Amino acid sequence: MKKLISIVTGAFLFGAFIIIISSCAATKEIADKSSTQLWGENCMRCHNTPPSSAYNNTQWETISMHMKLRANLTDLESAKILEFLKSSN
Ligand code: HEC
Repeated sequence: MKKLISIVTGAFLFGAFIIIISSCAATKEIADKSSTQLWGENCMRCHNTPPSSAYNNTQWETISMHMKLRANLTDLESAKILEFLKSSN
């Protein structure tokens, strides 16, 4: 009987461990999205994405504020995309 209890407990803990590990992996995946990936996934939903060379850094700052609202981006996502648009200018 004791052996059965420890097997059941062991199986339960293993299951819980797997669930915790996989949920952490999913959260990390979102946080790890590169600025280029965020830009590709978000900025072509409504229009063709203008190349970063189309605007200068000051213009990109204004556009980012505008498109952050349009695209419903978080602060982090918007900051990452802006960083990419400015760096490849
Ligand atoms: C929900 C739809 C939507 C998404 C997502 C979106 N845009 Fe836009 N974008 C628009 C619309 C609509 C306009 C036309 C200007 C306006 O009325 O806002 C526009 C205009 C622009 C312009 C022209 C300049 C301006 O401000 O009017 C640029 C550049 C631009 N978007 C870049 C981006 C970038 C970069 C992203 C990704 C962060 C993005 N857009 C995501 C809807 C969107």
